Amino acid sequence: MRPSIIVHGGAGDIPDELREAHRRGTQRAAEAGWTVLAAGGSALDAVEAAVVVMEDDETFDAGRGAFLNADGQVELDAGCMDGAGLQVGAVASVQFIQNPIRLARTVMEKSEHVLLVGQGAQRFAHKMGFATCDLTDLAVPREFERWQKLLYDRTHSARKSFARASDTVGCVALDRAGHMAAGTSTGGVPNKMPGRVGDVPMVGCGFYADDQYGGASTTGWGESIAKVLLARLALHHLEVLGDPRAAAQAAIAVLEEKVNGLGGVILLAPDGRPGWHYNTPWMAYAYQAGDMAQPTVGQ
Ligand code: GLY
Repeated sequence: MRPSIIVHGGAGDIPDELREAHRRGTQRAAEAGWTVLAAGGSALDAVEAAVVVMEDDETFDAGRGAFLNADGQVELDAGCMDGAGLQVGAVASVQFIQNPIRLARTVMEKSEHVLLVGQGAQRFAHKMGFATCDLTDLAVPREFERWQKLLYDRTHSARKSFARASDTVGCVALDRAGHMAAGTSTGGVPNKMPGRVGDVPMVGCGFYADDQYGGASTTGWGESIAKVLLARLALHHLEVLGDPRAAAQAAIAVLEEKVNGLGGVILLAPDGRPGWHYNTPWMAYAYQAGDMAQPTVGQ
């Protein structure tokens, strides 16, 4: 099988001054994942490597650089899926963990559950030997400023934030063995209610992978994405339409028409052909496959 990988850096109205950082960050993430695939590594390892690069890059709303909640804390969500056996792992509302995608994968591989939240997820992380970090390792000055401004903005809403800011990171990869994996990671929405969980850690909403049908990762206003199970919906359209670009467009059309949603989706067909679409002003993505010397970066 010809390996391929696609990543996104979040759909939203990315300010001009951040767009180059988004392009560079998604390119570096695709390269990290591609290095794994090119060496014969698994799709799941590639997804983890790519998402970790973006969690560590404060440009993005995931890991370091994530939005703060209304209490000025960082609560992170992440999920991943291995399309070979439909294995799933996810975490929600975890704090003081730099790379929640790794914790999500550990839930998948080392527990009998698919989703752990809050304190239970923290305790599991501790038991599994994850290091904890400080709030200041995750919350950057840009986000403290946003948090302070929004505290006094009585018109603020989750939906509006996607017309103004970036969101979430994700990756879908196909390895040489023909296995598909997908993963997504986020800090959620700016000044969210503590305990609020969006689409990202919910299987079928923020991510989905099945070797038979393909893989998808989503981004955008989580409350709308969750209502249409956007990741699984995109793969349904792929099965019906056969073309990943058309499938991504069809899924975003449903998101918009049914729930007035905002967001984006990336996907890979089972043979590695990519698709992406979004109805926000901007979303950076990067794609690499076959004999391409470097990723194609677009928006
Ligand atoms: N899509 C990210 C969120 O709504 O949490």
